[in-house]
Amino acid sequence: MDGLDRRNMLMAGGALDAIGASGAASPAGARALWTWSPKSSVAGAGGGRDPEWVWDGEADRLIASVIDRGDVSRVNELLRTWTRNGQPLPSGLPADVRDFMERARQLPSWADRNLLEAAADFNKSRSFYLNLLNGVGGGMLSTAIPREARSVYHSKGGADMEDRVARTSLLGFAIGDLNAYRPDGDVIVQAVKTRMVHAAVRHLLPRSPAWSQTSGGRKIPISQADIMVTWHSLATYAMQKLTEWKVPVSPADASAYLHVWQVTAHMLGVHDEYVPATWDAADAQSEQVLDPVLASTREGLELTAILLRQLAEQTSPGGIDRPLVNALARFLVGARVADMDGIPEEPFWEKVITAVWPKLIASREKLIPLPLVPPLAWTIDEAARQYILFYQAKRQGAHIEIPETQRPG
Ligand code: HEM
Repeated sequence: MDGLDRRNMLMAGGALDAIGASGAASPAGARALWTWSPKSSVAGAGGGRDPEWVWDGEADRLIASVIDRGDVSRVNELLRTWTRNGQPLPSGLPADVRDFMERARQLPSWADRNLLEAAADFNKSRSFYLNLLNGVGGGMLSTAIPREARSVYHSKGGADMEDRVARTSLLGFAIGDLNAYRPDGDVIVQAVKTRMVHAAVRHLLPRSPAWSQTSGGRKIPISQADIMVTWHSLATYAMQKLTEWKVPVSPADASAYLHVWQVTAHMLGVHDEYVPATWDAADAQSEQVLDPVLASTREGLELTAILLRQLAEQTSPGGIDRPLVNALARFLVGARVADMDGIPEEPFWEKVITAVWPKLIASREKLIPLPLVPPLAWTIDEAARQYILFYQAKRQGAHIEIPETQRPG
């Protein structure tokens, strides 16, 4: 970490201590009581059990066994060759892994091919906003989710964030692809692999003293509630921002976009009774599970600093544009979360972005002619494009693999 990042972290930590929101000592599970009804879910019914205490039994038992019997590298080697939704599973997989994956790759009975196709078109036509929101915005939000920040930090991938960003963006971009759920797309592949990675993390992290010391007494990470928290930081947050930015989204597009995320939650092993059936239900669940848990942590501050530095290096090798990088990140997540993340304030650029963003959107949506767009808007547009390219480039050559250890050291 360079001196500047360290200073930013210290400054942010100080500010947060002052308002009592600081991190290292904050409880890892400041959650509201679970009252969200399964009637609001895609299942329409369910036991209503608090997802805080539900994990992914089948996957968890299987992957624990794969790790304990020393099969991880053999399975990973074969998984590398499985890259397309419609591709048969590689031969040579252990029988129990193959059986699980055959089941896990099936779409739920309620998946609607037409809606998935409509979602793909929507993702394509709105890729600028969605990539920015899910890539940069979602990334900066995730570091303000204490359990996620701590799990990522203390897992194997936390030691090399460059590589970790690359692997995580695989799923995000797969969802946005035109062929996402078609046989030649790869969301199913990346989601099934991610489900297995999460199961591995549930087996490995409890053995990490560093994680256990910060887990607030939690014995197993990545509950179903945690997955939905992250889901909201991606899907619900993006839809809320599009609405706030007044990006025109038809009701049909909104339903299709919700559907692709509903199916993806299912593919990640979330039980249908926790997957919101409507955007209203999603907003209500998000208010209950995401909003109250956002907080600053030592791990989140460090991860944010790394992400910001990577972005600044990408947008400008000399680092001159770091203030713009900071300002755009602050704009995307808002001042409250930005402060939790220790993203430095940039009064000049923040003011500029707030002023020109509506014009930029209006121009992208062809609602106003180009001459009405102030020139500075294009600097911002270009920085946003560079952000997206940064994430896209990271996707090349990356593979999601089952970890067999936690973060070294
Ligand atoms: C791994 C996506 C929820 C913690 C991954 C990977 C992806 C992903 C694509 C594979 C990339 C990699 O291996 O680094 C998602 C999505 C989620 C979600 C789409 C919800 C919608 C969560 C939550 C937590 C979490 C809630 C923790 C509370 C982790 C960790 C790894 C991982 C620790 C492995 C890091 C490593 O060892 O490299 N996730 N995730 N994820 N995820 Fe998630």
